Amino acid sequence: MTDTPPHGEPRITISARNSGKAVSPTMFGLFFEDINYGADGGLYAELVQNRSFEHEDSLHAWSEISLSADGDLKIATSGPLNANNPHYLHLHVREAGDGYGLANDGFDGIPIREGKSYRFSVHARSDQAVPLKVILQNEIGNALGECVVEGLSPEWQRFECTIPATAGALRGRLTLLAIRAGTVDLDMVSLFPEETWKGRTNGLRADLVQLLAEMRPGFLRFPGGCIVEGKDLGNAYRWKETIGDVAERRQNWNRWMNALPDVPAPQYYQTYGLGFFEYFLLSEDLGAEPVPILNCGMSCQFQDANLVPVDQLDSYVQDMLDLIEFANGPIDSPWGAKRAAMGHPDSFRLKYLGIGNEQWGEEYFERYPVFYEAIKAKHPEIQLITTAGPAVDNHSGHVSDGYEKWKLAWDKFEEGMPADIVDEHYYCKPQWFLDNADRYDAYDPNGPKVFAGEYAAHDEGSRNNLRCALAEAALITGLLRNADIVTMASYAPLFARAGFTQWKPDLIWFDATRAYGTPSYHVQAMFSRNRPDVVMPLEIQNANRKELFAVAGRDDKSGELLLFVVNAGESPVHATVDLADTAIEKRQALKTMLTSDSLDDENSFDDPTRIAPTDIRIEIAGSEFEHDFAERSFTVLRI
Ligand code: AHR
Repeated sequence: MTDTPPHGEPRITISARNSGKAVSPTMFGLFFEDINYGADGGLYAELVQNRSFEHEDSLHAWSEISLSADGDLKIATSGPLNANNPHYLHLHVREAGDGYGLANDGFDGIPIREGKSYRFSVHARSDQAVPLKVILQNEIGNALGECVVEGLSPEWQRFECTIPATAGALRGRLTLLAIRAGTVDLDMVSLFPEETWKGRTNGLRADLVQLLAEMRPGFLRFPGGCIVEGKDLGNAYRWKETIGDVAERRQNWNRWMNALPDVPAPQYYQTYGLGFFEYFLLSEDLGAEPVPILNCGMSCQFQDANLVPVDQLDSYVQDMLDLIEFANGPIDSPWGAKRAAMGHPDSFRLKYLGIGNEQWGEEYFERYPVFYEAIKAKHPEIQLITTAGPAVDNHSGHVSDGYEKWKLAWDKFEEGMPADIVDEHYYCKPQWFLDNADRYDAYDPNGPKVFAGEYAAHDEGSRNNLRCALAEAALITGLLRNADIVTMASYAPLFARAGFTQWKPDLIWFDATRAYGTPSYHVQAMFSRNRPDVVMPLEIQNANRKELFAVAGRDDKSGELLLFVVNAGESPVHATVDLADTAIEKRQALKTMLTSDSLDDENSFDDPTRIAPTDIRIEIAGSEFEHDFAERSFTVLRI
């Protein structure tokens, strides 16, 4: 115990010698969902939109090009590339002139960078071996680079070529021209920058993955979110449809297509080019535990709420068992062999699996045990994630009876329903976060672990401002303080493509060429990059409990002490920090701070780092020192 400081000034006392609670390496992670064009048009680096002509508006993003030519084009279905890809484009060229074909505008234009190369590929066939000219063009039709595809035959074949760009364009397009009379069928028309993350084919946008890597996430949850559930069961995400040859992955429409009447997105589809293999690979690249969430025989309860009868869940249970084999099984097992065939003979070391997204009610708890028992019987090593519904009380989340749903779930767990990890969601006002920073102090440390699986502070106008970021930081001090209960946490949603959003706020904003982290991104990164191995007991005296929040921990490798302090108020806080029982002499510490002039401040494409952490070295007097915690700030001291 420490004495009350003189003049009633705030005092933060850390029992640095005490061993404290262990912090899970999965404490801070990522929630990925294909919402706001997070996958197609986002993380997935494919530049062509509607590459396989499977959109309902089958020529969406395409336009006919006729250069002194005579021809016509149509969508055809006879003799398709494969059963999962039933539509293709049929060109009939009577007079080729200077070329007849079509152009793709990508997602609001195809960005082309001068000096960079682009990988083009297409599946094509032709009755008269018609050659195809492939051109990267700028906004006014000038060619920036081209290649010619030859050798087409009456059978489908895949062709590829690399196109170096001699000049750039922000809103370019990809043009394909038949340059001789005849017929040509085209499918899976694809263009990727050569520079994807790690230079992979069928790869991811390097700048976006870089932002994720810099967070050093402990896990990657995928593929959602509500898209796991689907509007109806036909629309649900089934992972087996997302692996293998990309040309054979059945395109699905996106559940966020027209889910919100105010922001319809009628052309929002999932190509599944970014599928489960790619998610596992991304997790591995990031050093993050893969956390897949699978459908449990229920479609989105906010939408059609379809239910698979409890005695007919076999294929859904089998999906989960097979996924474990796909991720971890030996290469001579049926699903392990598919992983190996895709280029990853080694196990992905899957340890976590979610049963349904944010389901609720008796209908969920009739189904969940079927999955739990079947998986535990074969794979007791897998930690299973269950859910407490879409909100934790009637003020959080987007449902007014959130508390009843949450309570029903926790009553079940208390009554003996088995649960390893319970997923809780809260999307609510910044003040709610400040008021709830202590919510896990009341949870039973002997109960199931908690995964704060989706959360974000929602301010007026759904802005990504400093007010939200500080409120989230305040709540996270409470998650960390209760690291024996909360073992995983992730902000949601992760990505938003400007002009293509269904949901705000979001962690990272991007457009065709740019990306920036919001203040909330920096809060997540500051915690995650400084994740302690243990938390240490900490006491705050003489402080405004609605404004000052703190938690401390230790980095076992470096032996450094970590102090996280949120000052959500509008006045600086001069505090004494007392590292009780610790003999620390005068020394330097690293101070990382996030702040700005106003709680309303935000980052933007024009000013992407207006709010970004700054690092300085500071001198501390010893095991007791004074420090000014700036108004509107989040500070990490590494001592
Ligand atoms: O993050 C956006 C949505 O919020 C998720 O898809 C869903 O799980 C929650 O309702």
